[in-house]
Amino acid sequence: MAYQEPISEITEPIYTRRSIRKFQKKEIKRELIERIVDAGRAAPSAKNRQPWKFMVYSGKAKQELLYHMKKGIEREKEHPSLPDSGHGIPDAENTLRIMESAPVIIMVLNTNGKSPFTAINADERFTEINDMLSIGAAVENMLLQAEALDVGTLWIGNTCFAYRELTEYIGTEAQLTGAVALGYKDEHPAKRPRKNLDDIVEYYN
Ligand SMILES: Cc1cc2nc3c(=O)[nH]c(=O)nc-3n(C[C@H](O)[C@H](O)[C@H](O)COP(=O)(O)O)c2cc1C
Repeated sequence: MAYQEPISEITEPIYTRRSIRKFQKKEIKRELIERIVDAGRAAPSAKNRQPWKFMVYSGKAKQELLYHMKKGIEREKEHPSLPDSGHGIPDAENTLRIMESAPVIIMVLNTNGKSPFTAINADERFTEINDMLSIGAAVENMLLQAEALDVGTLWIGNTCFAYRELTEYIGTEAQLTGAVALGYKDEHPAKRPRKNLDDIVEYYN
């Protein structure tokens, strides 16, 4: 039987959301940003630790933040902190250009996490896995709330190339998990491919 996408008020944004990489210049009102972040706050979290912190940048502060991301990417080319990921630098530069064009950038921190350049043991890694999953749930909630409000989003992991520069600029000891760009959509991309349901699920009874 062909899989039917369930469409209801709740599930529709799950299927209509796309990563948006072209934004209008129009600002996003504080009240709307608050509704989006509040959806993140409602997410489940391991042991209800709520290990998230969201730092919202726009205007001049966003320009300064991205200046430090640029500096980090440039440094990464000469003195890589992630030597096996050098092939990802052009993509990071492209992501930076997208971030520059977005009116709002939300930096997403794991308040319970350590710098990825600090070694951790297996116990700590399991805690980190659970905290990261909790933060993933919060970010997805925010993307879906934004979609329901017709605000475009891009989930960003390419902050990793400027990890030290960004956390130093932000002035935090917390772990930077990534960012979310927000803005009114200036493109309506087609659905990107997904694996077949049959290839990713196994049933046992
Ligand atoms: C954790 C995570 C990190 C991502 N990092 C980036 C990024 O740095 N730059 C970018 O352009 N897209 C990034 N994306 C977006 C993915 O490329 C995108 O979700 C995927 O290609 C599927 O497209 P869709 O979101 O439109 O369905 C990221 C997505 C996730 C979930």
